[in-house]
Amino acid sequence: MIVYDDRKVYIPSLNIPWQGGIMTITGSKKKQIAVLTGGGDAPGLNAVIRGITVKAISLGYDVIGLKQGWAGLLENGESNPLDLDQVASIHVTGGTILGTSRTNPYKVDNGVEQVKANLKRLKCDALIAIGGEDTLGVANKLFKEGVNIVGVPKTIDNDLSGTDYTFGFDTAVNIAAKAIRDLHTTAESHRRIMVVEIMGRHAGWITIHASIAGGAHITLLPEDKFDVKEITKVIKQRQAKGKHHTIIAASEGAIPKEGDMVLQAGEKDAFGHVRLGGLGERLAKELEKECGQEARYVVLGHLQRSGAPSAFDVVLGTRLGVKATELVDQGKFGRMAALKGTEIVDVDLNKAVGTLKIVPKEFIAEEKIFWGIDD
Ligand code: F6P
Repeated sequence: MIVYDDRKVYIPSLNIPWQGGIMTITGSKKKQIAVLTGGGDAPGLNAVIRGITVKAISLGYDVIGLKQGWAGLLENGESNPLDLDQVASIHVTGGTILGTSRTNPYKVDNGVEQVKANLKRLKCDALIAIGGEDTLGVANKLFKEGVNIVGVPKTIDNDLSGTDYTFGFDTAVNIAAKAIRDLHTTAESHRRIMVVEIMGRHAGWITIHASIAGGAHITLLPEDKFDVKEITKVIKQRQAKGKHHTIIAASEGAIPKEGDMVLQAGEKDAFGHVRLGGLGERLAKELEKECGQEARYVVLGHLQRSGAPSAFDVVLGTRLGVKATELVDQGKFGRMAALKGTEIVDVDLNKAVGTLKIVPKEFIAEEKIFWGIDD
């Protein structure tokens, strides 16, 4: 007996593709939704996984968690079923219970065929890919090749188009803002310049938010090339007013007016990104010389995406997970769950991965009037 809802039904013998809706053939397994997390981890990932699992089970689906992002699907398709017990309380924890990787199946010989074969072998009727520009870029290509995929936007960098905010960003901003705020005491005590290097390769969202919230005196972003002379001038003006410490919030991807980004290593990952790092150290040395004042630097690094998610990220992740599952149920593949204002909506995956969302000029100008001022 075939049981189906009143919208769509899959009839295997006629090879009609499933377009959403639940179908149960008595005695056979239910439809199965697979979930994977890819790219750098972001606080809130587990909230999305829980949101998907709870919603999918309430709709009558089985859920399977795929391990280590695209890398897992390229290898043996390591996975495990997800049920309510397994996702209990995970939403308030950091990292991802599924593991993650920065692997690009399109850069591996026969990679795409391998991914498709493993999805078929694991009987995945639909896949929810949770990731940033890279992971969702792969998802978008796979969708165009006929895989039933829905995306969920994730990155602490908040640089993904199509959504107002990505989860993980709020947690990262809180961590960076607290670090800046705390660094005031030691910088002030020692009368030092303190450069705080903050994550963000191409977009300075975390830096500009943390700088405002944590009270930095100068903000350097990838979107706006910096001038060492201008920074020196602000520090010297502070010195003249008897302000003997200066905190500089600098994105790891900030670029000096003359020269290139400071690279940590020449090698690139599977998505063509170079590893950044070293800006804080170089700038601190340069400013010490130019300003005649001791300077130190702090690299916040992976601490910014470690630990428990903020309440905002738990709620956003949960709502995105629920929405992505609804999209699967409605057969709306090639879409991405997204935040628009206070609403969770769906947008075209293709558009979301097309261009990076960077900090607009107007916001940069708004922030700049606070340079050099004590909060
Ligand atoms: O993509 C998020 C991010 O945290 C970036 O801000 C940072 O440049 C990068 O990941 C670090 O990547 P990895 O974890 O591979 O060192």
